[in-house]
Amino acid sequence: MASLRSDERPRILPEVSDNAASTSQAASVAESDSVARLVNAVKVFGEGDSAVRAIDDVTLSFKRGQFTAVMGPSGSGKSTMMYCQSGLDRLSSGQAFIGDVDVSTLSDNELSVLRRSKMGFIFQSFHLVPALTARENITLPIDLDGHEVDQEFLAELTGVLGIENRLNNRPSQLSGGQRQRVAIARAMIPKPEVIFADEPTGALDSKTSGELLDYLRRAVDTLGQTIVMVTHDAVAASYTDTAVYVQDGQLVGQASNPTVDDVLAKIKELS
Ligand SMILES: Nc1ncnc2c1ncn2[C@@H]1O[C@H](COP(=O)(O)OP(=O)(O)OP(=O)(O)O)[C@@H](O)[C@H]1O
Ligand SMILES: [Mg+2]
Repeated sequence: MASLRSDERPRILPEVSDNAASTSQAASVAESDSVARLVNAVKVFGEGDSAVRAIDDVTLSFKRGQFTAVMGPSGSGKSTMMYCQSGLDRLSSGQAFIGDVDVSTLSDNELSVLRRSKMGFIFQSFHLVPALTARENITLPIDLDGHEVDQEFLAELTGVLGIENRLNNRPSQLSGGQRQRVAIARAMIPKPEVIFADEPTGALDSKTSGELLDYLRRAVDTLGQTIVMVTHDAVAASYTDTAVYVQDGQLVGQASNPTVDDVLAKIKELS
């Protein structure tokens, strides 16, 4: 499966080395055009001896129209970072911005309005509603807002994802990979400003995964979609503009236009 990256594609971010000074410099350069941003973000679970610093002073900016991979070992804080960035969970200290809005200043109601209007979220564990069909799950965010579903876009999305003939089934009647694709379609159908995807290819075979990544890449290139994707997969990361590496809750590297070999080398270094 070939990556869509090519040598012709312009480098959008400057190449950044792995030391903390360069990383924070890159974050501030990107600030003016960031869709989502963490500033000195800390998230601690538990207290005393059992406390876990899942995010440990991270400053990071996700630029508009960029496809970013967030990588790191299991337990390094990737999902927590996505949850706190999108306001699904609250930071212990520091700030998480969506555009210019500090999500920590919003009430739960304001947050859910912001999330529904600007963000799409593909959860690691899908979070589908068992009593609804695949079609109803996909259109749920639009139905909740009382908007019209773009049927043409629904057909395009479900066609690309290969679930167009499973739309009348409930989640329990779908395979893991099909459920994941329903969750992906649900996140994309409202055309959100930014999509947070937590291992969106984790349950997919390599062909379906390649098709989805091609589609996400095109959404970034042709529609200016911003995508932040957690992944363990070097091939998936090679479709992105920037790979961000975390370990023990800290940012330990950031690189533009990662190749499969770059990513594999970095993963080896971190393990
Ligand atoms: N609700 C919670 N309560 C206590 N600890 C938690 C909670 N959620 C996450 N953690 C801890 O925070 C750390 C980071 O977890 P997180 O789920 O963000 O990791 P991850 O990088 O997404 O891992 P994976 O690749 O396995 O999905 C882990 O040590 C985890 O055990
Ligand atoms: Mg996770």
